[in-house]
Amino acid sequence: MGVRRILDVDKVLERQDSGELKRRLRGRDLIGFGVGIIIGTGIFTLAGVEAKTHAGPAVTLSFVIGAVVAGLAALCYAELASSVPTAGSAYTYAFATLGEVFAWIIGWDLLLEFALGAAVVSRGWSGYLANLLGLSPSLFGEEAPVNIGAVLIIAVLTVVAVVGIKESAFLTNILVLVKVAVCVLILAVGAFYVKSTNLTPFIPPSQPSGSEAATLHQPIIQAALGLEQSVYGIGGVLTAAAVVFFAYTGFEALANLGEETVNPKKDLKVGILGALFVCAVLYLGVSLVLTGMVEYTTIDVSAPLASAFDAVGEHWVSALISLGAVTGLTSVMMVELVTIGRIGFAMGRDGLLPKALGTTHPKWGTPHRMTIGGAVLIAILAALVPISELSDMVSIGALSAMIIVALAVPVLRRKRPDLNRSFTVPFSPVLPVVAALACLYLMLNLDVLTWIRFAVWLAVGLAIYFAYGRKHSKFAE
Ligand code: ALA
Repeated sequence: MGVRRILDVDKVLERQDSGELKRRLRGRDLIGFGVGIIIGTGIFTLAGVEAKTHAGPAVTLSFVIGAVVAGLAALCYAELASSVPTAGSAYTYAFATLGEVFAWIIGWDLLLEFALGAAVVSRGWSGYLANLLGLSPSLFGEEAPVNIGAVLIIAVLTVVAVVGIKESAFLTNILVLVKVAVCVLILAVGAFYVKSTNLTPFIPPSQPSGSEAATLHQPIIQAALGLEQSVYGIGGVLTAAAVVFFAYTGFEALANLGEETVNPKKDLKVGILGALFVCAVLYLGVSLVLTGMVEYTTIDVSAPLASAFDAVGEHWVSALISLGAVTGLTSVMMVELVTIGRIGFAMGRDGLLPKALGTTHPKWGTPHRMTIGGAVLIAILAALVPISELSDMVSIGALSAMIIVALAVPVLRRKRPDLNRSFTVPFSPVLPVVAALACLYLMLNLDVLTWIRFAVWLAVGLAIYFAYGRKHSKFAE
């Protein structure tokens, strides 16, 4: 079944020195990449949507819950990334602990997370840009039959991602400075408009959702227990926590840069934990300011933050927020493209994807074939399919990979107690198990439709594994 095909950790570590990928990144670049991929639609759009539809002002509490779960998972990623730095991240950790078939499933799952993430974000980006520059919605908006804006931005960023990791880091760092400045501006100006009346009651009382939207849109845990659909209350806060978890996804991407970091043992853990910390602090502040400025039932879900500032007459802040959203989303896509290249490269190197994908460009030192191949698929998807609703798929993909990573921590400690670990999760195995359960719990708060789509994706993945990967894997040779 591929369970006994387990990759030797020493082999993974030896590949470190193959020199295929170029070691050009420092700690600062990693934090830039991390913040670059984390802050995006989650805070600019979902915070407002979830406050209005599920949690009220307590959406800030949902962000706290998300931060705790992401923080636990990040500790586990930090231990594995700094002890086994590799371009494959969770895919390779699973290969070294649980076996090939699990590794494939996680790799397949991560490709879904980042490819779908990039496609969703590119459409959002196109819409924001059309708004900002007054471009035609029939070419750039959701109603465009072929979304030209989404294709253009993916094409431009792919060129940067192929030309070099340092170039990608440079562009990301600039974009990150702009979006972080915009978040700080939101806090600094918005704080003056917060009204305590908007924040009380902090957790609006639970009420029946009143929507006939059948079980497909109900959290799977509620559907399974046969509970009636309701909104607000503690249940609403938890549902919102699962949805806004999307805002934290992306920090795991840093774990794929282990073969390109000058000092991976030190810089990867700093990058992963540092980037998540910065984003969590900004998220809590921004969600509190948003719900403090606007009564939650009146939030404009298409552009919650910009509209909040327009409503109080601060139009200049509103314009800068749109700029922040466009730059923010650009960096999210940039890092997602870089990440897809590394994961596919690692899978090609092991023979689970065509071996040609597991090679790098002789001059630029980037996995160019995988990056371009991935980008073409993303561009086709983004051009033709209205997928803006699929952000939950990104979360379910990220959470399931996090469960495997959390479980891999104690397994690898038992198997390889000798590994040089520059960072260790405290209280293992208790904390990793708590992390895995917390991720599972959030997954159970995602809706039934998301679970069905996810199951279909995994089934397709398994079919491909048995038709291709299993036979072409290095282990088959
Ligand atoms: N975390 C990223 C976002 O919120 C994917 O857009």
